[in-house]
Amino acid sequence: MASPARRNQNRTDLLNPTTDPYPTVHALGTGALYGPPQPEHIVLILGVGPGLGLAIAQTFASYGYTTAIMSRTKSRLDAWAVELDKVARAARGTSSTAKEQPLSLGFACDVLDNGSIERAIGEAQAAWPDKKIGTAIYNASVRKRKPFLELPMDAMKDSVQASIFAGFTFLQTIIRSMKERNGTEGGNVLVTGATSSIRGREQFAAFAASKGGLRQMCQSVAREYGREGIHVAHVVVDGLIESDEAKSFFGFKDNQRFRDGTTLRPDEIAKNYLFLALQSPSTWTFELDLRPAKEHF
Ligand SMILES: NC(=O)c1ccc[n+]([C@@H]2O[C@H](COP(=O)([O-])OP(=O)(O)OC[C@H]3O[C@@H](n4cnc5c(N)ncnc54)[C@H](OP(=O)(O)O)[C@@H]3O)[C@@H](O)[C@H]2O)c1
Ligand SMILES: *[C@@H]1O[C@H](CO)[C@@H](O)[C@H](O)[C@H]1NC(C)=O
Ligand SMILES: *[C@@H]1O[C@H](CO)[C@@H](O)[C@H](O)[C@H]1NC(C)=O
Ligand SMILES: *[C@@H]1O[C@H](CO)[C@@H](O)[C@H](O)[C@H]1NC(C)=O
Repeated sequence: MASPARRNQNRTDLLNPTTDPYPTVHALGTGALYGPPQPEHIVLILGVGPGLGLAIAQTFASYGYTTAIMSRTKSRLDAWAVELDKVARAARGTSSTAKEQPLSLGFACDVLDNGSIERAIGEAQAAWPDKKIGTAIYNASVRKRKPFLELPMDAMKDSVQASIFAGFTFLQTIIRSMKERNGTEGGNVLVTGATSSIRGREQFAAFAASKGGLRQMCQSVAREYGREGIHVAHVVVDGLIESDEAKSFFGFKDNQRFRDGTTLRPDEIAKNYLFLALQSPSTWTFELDLRPAKEHF
């Protein structure tokens, strides 16, 4: 029979015991996010729109975290940042004074431009020199639906750009910044997927190719950097996200809404992102799939 050392030859980490007590197990939804402590922990979100993106930012702000929100529309982000700052301050029990750094800021960035991603992440870091990017969320994509033979090469290029090249740039920039901390604090990287991440549906060839590639890239990065304390997770959003856009697409009137269990509600999705970022390094999820009760899958 092989000796324990031999059986675990690739797992020298298992053969390095400690006598320190285990960290506390917190009740669900409580405790701090994995990574830097709250006062210095930035939650950075790329792809913040009125729906899911904002819901995610609000969820983290309601736990007192600093949020850096990014998309193309700076004016909209700035207005949301004012609200997120208030929410985070209320959660911390501190009131706002003009001199203090805000607890939320918006940064313009377009995933169709690799350079703007690095620039926006650099601006966020520079805006809070005493804080660190503890959680980073990638949520932008380009989705065009067309029969395969009518799909222009440009649609393919934009999808691949938005998910693969931009995702690559985002992941590299974030992992570098987390690694600069020398593995002392770790961090979370959460990436939004879609049905097409694992199932190439008809008329979504470009989107499926790019979302599938993004998912596989996340797997590689998760395996490479998990052992260095970076938690990478991929969330398969398998269904229609509830939004004003979706309601108008189906011709709903102002006071009409989707029935429960038919579409994914942004606030409910956001809770799952929070859950992932709260996980302890003893028990990490790589992939989570979320769908409404009535979805066929
Ligand atoms: N919608 C759904 O039903 C659904 C279903 C399953 C999965 N998903 C996934 O969920 C995520 C969000 O999808 P979504 O359809 O809700 O949102 P989306 O249309 O991708 O937009 C989300 C936000 O990202 C920003 N954004 C869009 N293009 C951008 C670009 N080129 N550069 C920077 N930011 C950009 C937009 O703000 P600006 O316009 O201000 O830039 C928008 O508010 C995606 O990863 C998508 O694949 C969506
Ligand atoms: C991700 O994008 C979706 C759709 O574009 C949006 O509804 C959602 O709010 C975004 N999520 C985050 C965390 O920004
Ligand atoms: C992003 O970078 C990749 C790799 O260099 C390149 O192929 C792609 O064209 C770039 N995208 C844009 C929009 O410049
Ligand atoms: C990480 O380690 C390098 C090399 O030892 C050192 O120069 C750097 O200051 C360290 N960074 C932090 C944040 O401790």
